[in-house]
Amino acid sequence: MLKRPNLRLVGLMAYESQIAGVGDTPPGKPAMGRVIRAMQRRSRMELARRRAAIVRAVTELTDLEFVNGGGTGSVEKTAAERAVTEVAAGSGLYQPHLFDYYSNFTGRPAALFALPVARRPAPGVATCLGGGYLASGPADAIRLPQPYLPTGLAYDPREGAGEVQTPLLGHAADLLEVGDRVWFRHTKAGELCERFAELHLLEGEHLVGTVPTYRGKGERSSDRRRGGRNGATMTVPAAQRLGWPV
Ligand SMILES: Cc1ncc(COP(=O)(O)O)c(C=O)c1O
Repeated sequence: MLKRPNLRLVGLMAYESQIAGVGDTPPGKPAMGRVIRAMQRRSRMELARRRAAIVRAVTELTDLEFVNGGGTGSVEKTAAERAVTEVAAGSGLYQPHLFDYYSNFTGRPAALFALPVARRPAPGVATCLGGGYLASGPADAIRLPQPYLPTGLAYDPREGAGEVQTPLLGHAADLLEVGDRVWFRHTKAGELCERFAELHLLEGEHLVGTVPTYRGKGERSSDRRRGGRNGATMTVPAAQRLGWPV
């Protein structure tokens, strides 16, 4: 990299998802929690040594302006490493529900998205339009958004959250009419900022601003220049091989 005239190495980024992105108190799984905490302790020590060695090796060749590490679940631990100069923590701003299961911090939900009720097919059932905003990772239940308000709604276990519709079950469904909104929490920072172009900022009950997400600034993975559509990404050569008109 140092030999390339058009590139300047200014910083390093190392993300330890096994600590920053894995809650150590998974609900209903105390044994798994103990295993996760032991894994994270070991990993933290190994990483601190390895990251320091990497930074030493690179700074022998060039000066670095920053060394970025960590994530929401590891802020205080990563910040304690001398080799690290800044910590990334996107999800912490929103407190999406994956971050409810950490022993080292608690937060209040600060970002929600709404789905309109499109049908009331039976007592105790409200079907919302859309909804399948999944977090990355293994396709387990925790990657799904969580019905939040009104309280007392749950997914139909045979349906889950769909792209087209999301049926919700519970007594609270009977309080809802077609057109009402159900509010959901997402799992991790990425889903909302990938799927929505703007975030609306509320202070109390007042809308005080609207800000573009990274995607809203035109950095969409569905950008046609990259050959993808509707959030799916595909390189142009791959699309050409499949005969897509790009
Ligand atoms: C490079 C990098 N840094 C930090 C993070 C942590 O982000 P968050 O605080 O939203 O968990 C991520 C999450 O995927 C990441 O990929």
